Amino acid sequence: MITSSDSGAPGRLSRGATPASPAPTIRPVHRMPVLSIAHLSVDYLAGRGVHAVRDVSLEVGRGEILGLAGESGCGKSTLAYAVTRLLTPPALVTSGEIVFHSREGYDIDIRALTGADLRDFRWDKVAMVFQGAMNSLNPVITIGRQIDDVFTTHRPAMTRSERRERAAELLTTVGVDPIRLNSFAHELSGGMRQRVMIAMALALDPQVLIMDEPTTALDVVVQREILDEITRLRHERGFAVIFITHDLQLLLEISDRIAIMREGAIVELNQAVDLYAHPREPYTRMLLDSFPSLTGQRGGFVRTGRGDEEERP
Ligand SMILES: Nc1ncnc2c1ncn2[C@@H]1O[C@H](COP(=O)(O)OP(=O)(O)OP(=O)(O)O)[C@@H](O)[C@H]1O
Ligand SMILES: [Mg+2]
Repeated sequence: MITSSDSGAPGRLSRGATPASPAPTIRPVHRMPVLSIAHLSVDYLAGRGVHAVRDVSLEVGRGEILGLAGESGCGKSTLAYAVTRLLTPPALVTSGEIVFHSREGYDIDIRALTGADLRDFRWDKVAMVFQGAMNSLNPVITIGRQIDDVFTTHRPAMTRSERRERAAELLTTVGVDPIRLNSFAHELSGGMRQRVMIAMALALDPQVLIMDEPTTALDVVVQREILDEITRLRHERGFAVIFITHDLQLLLEISDRIAIMREGAIVELNQAVDLYAHPREPYTRMLLDSFPSLTGQRGGFVRTGRGDEEERP
């Protein structure tokens, strides 16, 4: 299942250094899983056909941030769409299991969901912020109305004033002034729109949040603010995050564990610090070396093994 090396004090790590413990040990994910994926395969049946996801097995711990990295076309979005049951033909799930373990103590076989059960599950238990989501807000209705629609659909018992209050609260949570409930999408900056999408994904208090390249289109400062927000929110609310990006350096800063995907398969999965310090796969090493750093302060810590203060006099 999940492999991880026991790294000792992270402060002593640096890439290529001798590990604190002589050999990596294998241990299971340290939290209760909220999502278990086993032997999942997805094909696109168009043209000559594409094996987009190949025999992927993965567990996501409750409240953990799992980074999913890999080059364009390796199957990251397809995997995310399979988990949220948003794949449409020509995509076909050819094998595997996806099980959601609810905090209330029961399991849901995601592949078996249909009709109302599927509608109730999606957004409520597992929510997703899509690649390019900030451009998918409805241009002709206000932000407030769009958030309101989420509640009227999924929480019909809520009163109008409860919905309004909760919508304002959500915007505040993601750092947007609630006055923006009256705004249209074109009146907001890219960063604000992306925050609104995150607010909408969080509206129903999901236990897993899948974020597919949520900050790629944003400038580095806004990206940094949003990443900090996500890490704070997951501490506050305890949801797990599957954070998808091709930017491995960014994942090193925010993830508990990182999975590396290549040509549809997970080729390496480890604690972020260990993956950085001792990548097992040459492909992981290549990815680590191929992106310029965004150098957030925490990233500096991960990459250099030194604290922020030491790194920035
Ligand atoms: N609708 C589709 N029809 C046919 N093939 C598809 C379709 N969508 C994706 N694919 C193929 O499936 C593979 C995986 O695509 P996917 O979008 O999941 O990759 P990705 O890792 O999310 O890439 P990116 O980083 O560019 O977003 C690619 O080879 C892609 O061309
Ligand atoms: Mg994608």
